[in-house]
Amino acid sequence: MAVEGVKEYHRIMGKYFDFPTVKPLALAEKLIRHLCPETGVVLDAFAGTGTSGQAAHNLGRPFILIEDRVANIAAERLRRVIDSNKCNVVPPSRS
Ligand SMILES: C[S@@+](CC[C@H](N)C(=O)[O-])C[C@H]1O[C@@H](n2cnc3c(N)ncnc32)[C@H](O)[C@@H]1O
Repeated sequence: MAVEGVKEYHRIMGKYFDFPTVKPLALAEKLIRHLCPETGVVLDAFAGTGTSGQAAHNLGRPFILIEDRVANIAAERLRRVIDSNKCNVVPPSRS
């Protein structure tokens, strides 16, 4: 599962980040469709590389991501995939 997620990250960012638990975007989208109402907000308190944020954005849900160790990776990814006028990406306060 992580292999597909790592490949997707590479496709989005043009570089590899070998994170062991990156989830496939399709899986995150499927979970959100089933678990989060269309008017809901996606909260991922263990966001990793930000797959859930990208999936929520794709499905038109607002989202809140919390990440300790690789927040800069998630923020960079989301900046890349999201129209900055539609989403405020709060940069990590520390690296
Ligand atoms: C299993 S990974 C998440 C992978 C993510 N779903 C993805 O697709 O990239 C769990 C993440 O939770 C983060 N984490 C663990 N404890 C945390 C905490 N107390 N606060 C914020 N983030 C935390 C870790 O740094 C790690 O990136």
